[in-house]
Amino acid sequence: MDLKRLAAERAVEYVKDGMKVGLGTGSTAYWAIQRLGERVKNEGLQIETVATSQASEDQARELGIPLVPFSEIGRLDITIDGADEVDGRLNLIKGGGGALLREKIVAMNSRRLVIVVDESKVVHTLGKFPLPVEIVPFACEWTYHALDQMGCHPAWRMNGSEKYKTDNGNYIADCKLGRISDAEALNQKLNMIPGVVDNGLFVDMADTIVVAHADGTIEIK
Ligand code: 5RP
Repeated sequence: MDLKRLAAERAVEYVKDGMKVGLGTGSTAYWAIQRLGERVKNEGLQIETVATSQASEDQARELGIPLVPFSEIGRLDITIDGADEVDGRLNLIKGGGGALLREKIVAMNSRRLVIVVDESKVVHTLGKFPLPVEIVPFACEWTYHALDQMGCHPAWRMNGSEKYKTDNGNYIADCKLGRISDAEALNQKLNMIPGVVDNGLFVDMADTIVVAHADGTIEIK
C-alpha cells in the first residue's frame, strides 16, 4: 500500500464521534480525508470539519463530510495534516502544497495536531526542503530582498510564467536554507519582516507524528 495512505488511514483512527476535525492539505492529507469520508458514509461517523485549503474543502464536500466555517466551529479536537519535513523534536516544515497559513491557523486552534508522513519526511535537522514563506503582494520585491539580505536564498514559487498565488491571494518565496540550526529563532525572525504573512516552520506544534515505513510498519512519535 502507498505509505502516505497507510499513515493517513492510521491517524483517522484517532477521530471519534462528535469531534471537530481540521482537514489538512496535500497528497497525504488527501488519504485522511478519503478515509474520513468512508467513515462518515459507512459508519455514520458524526463530525464537523474545517478545511485548510480550497482543494481539501472541495474534496470533503464531494465526500459528504460536514464542513463548518472557521468562524463558527470553535476549538477543534484534532487536525490531521501532512508535512514536508519532521525533525526529532517534532518541529516541522510545511507549505510545500502552499497552504501553510491556513494550516498554521487551524493547527493553532486544535487541541491535538497529528502529522502523517512517510519515512522520507523524517530528518535529523530541518532545512533541506526549501522553507516556504508567504508574502503579501504589496511591495513583494522589497520583502523578497529582505529575505535575500537575511541569507535565506529565496526563489519565487511559480505557476507557469506567473507567481504562484495562495488561497489567500499571496505569493510564496521558497527559501533554500540547507540547514536550520534554530527553528524557533528563524520562525520569529522571518515573521518580524513586514510583508511576510507567515512561514512554513511549525515549532512545538505537533503532538503526534504517524510515520509509515517502507516495510509497512507504522511508528507513532
Ligand atoms: C501543504 C503542506 C503539506 O502537508 C505538505 O506539503 C506535505 O505534502 P504531501 O503530503 O503532498 O507530501 O504543508 O501546504
